[in-house]
Amino acid sequence: MSSKVKNIYVCSNCDAQFPKWSGRCLECGAWGSLNLKTVDTKEAKAGEVKTESAELIDLSSIELKSLVRIKTGINEVDRVLGGGLVPGSLILLSGDPGIGKSTLVAQITTPALTPRPSPTVATEGEGNIGGVIYASGEESAGQVKDRLLRLSTNLDNFKFISETNVEKIVSALEKAKPSLAIIDSIQTIYSSEIPSEAGGVAQIRACAVKFLELAKRHNIAVILIGHITKDGQVAGPKTLEHIVDTVLYLENETTHDYRILRATKNRFGSVNEIGIFEMTGQGFQEINNPSLVFLGESGDNISGSVISAVMEGTRPFLAELQALASKTVFGYPQRKASGFDLNRLQVLSAVLSKRTKINLNNQDIILNVVGGLRVDDPGLDLAVCSAIISSMANLTIDRKTIILGEVGLGGEVRAVTKLEERLREAEKLGFKKAIVPDGAVKAGGMKVVKVKNIVDLVQAVSG
Ligand code: TYD
Ligand code: MG
Repeated sequence: MSSKVKNIYVCSNCDAQFPKWSGRCLECGAWGSLNLKTVDTKEAKAGEVKTESAELIDLSSIELKSLVRIKTGINEVDRVLGGGLVPGSLILLSGDPGIGKSTLVAQITTPALTPRPSPTVATEGEGNIGGVIYASGEESAGQVKDRLLRLSTNLDNFKFISETNVEKIVSALEKAKPSLAIIDSIQTIYSSEIPSEAGGVAQIRACAVKFLELAKRHNIAVILIGHITKDGQVAGPKTLEHIVDTVLYLENETTHDYRILRATKNRFGSVNEIGIFEMTGQGFQEINNPSLVFLGESGDNISGSVISAVMEGTRPFLAELQALASKTVFGYPQRKASGFDLNRLQVLSAVLSKRTKINLNNQDIILNVVGGLRVDDPGLDLAVCSAIISSMANLTIDRKTIILGEVGLGGEVRAVTKLEERLREAEKLGFKKAIVPDGAVKAGGMKVVKVKNIVDLVQAVSG
């Protein structure tokens, strides 16, 4: 083995290594953070190093423990998590400052605080949260208690740590072994083993790894709270996404001032679920019937307005689309969409112009999804076409009609996924008629109009 000394430059912010010095770290963008380090490199010749080969595991001999879930007591949170908190999982909850992350986790601790299920019991049935430890470097014990009382949290099994040193926190958690630990926020926590400042990428990553080890070793569910910086960059927390099991985002829904909780990564469930909350004086209230929320309030029939249903994860809910077609006054026709994919709108307008007698080539088209919802579901194509037809012809479509279907380039109407579930949601809310793709479908008591292509649709809408 030959040894030789080599110079490298290491970034004090993110630990990236470079062979040459530069004024700015190419990894994290920090200025003046590269420091010279000399390292001994041992160059091993082939065959000199003896390694043991990795063990082969026969998966058929592995016994599966059923995944226990700890119910958080907030249905929306449980659904987004895929059924509840998984013991031993590491969850990153991120969002803008002030969006309500601390409030949400305080409410997770609200439900029945039964003792932590022991590992043998934990393999069957569902346990409740037993023992929560909340570590905060941002707020004092008084502030935390004040919030918990406002949210009427049961304080019996709740402990608070006011500390920012990761080693101290981990050691306290190892002793106490709660079933849930909450770290608010990961940016304020630092490890004394890392020389750089708290909040730096290297610190955040090192601390997260410590919590990961803790979570796996002691089967403690750990929620790390991370702030997103205002410029939309998630510099710190973003680097954690591959370390953690689940990434949750809490975001603002602008028109109603609701909060939406989404999972963008989930090793224990689907990422399509969303939870919708309203912020009140007593913390978050779940919105159990989002369909009603995302339909326009006005009960009158207006031309250009159509109701359809989208699937968000396993849950259908109704959404209202509005289109406005108006004659282009200058230049070539504009297409604008909010809450809907603009390219898709352009495609659908082209299909309508080509396959029906409706000429959109001299029309500006504006499409809006009511309620500030963002939708990305091909099942809405037919509703978009109907809204455009309705606005062009100045026809109203009855508000008790639901329209669902995907539209192909040939103008043909295709089936949509989970059609019956969407129709059931509409029926529950008193819809009377459904315009759907051709094919067998159960629609309960609703009148069903089947359309094969968009020429049929024009008929169905204007007829
Ligand atoms: P907070 O959870 O502290 O936000 P974050 O931890 O994401 O920074 O709460 C943010 C806001 O919510 C705060 O301005 C006050 C408000 N709030 C309520 O409206 N009702 C409540 O019951 C609570 C606890 C907070
Ligand atoms: Mg907070």
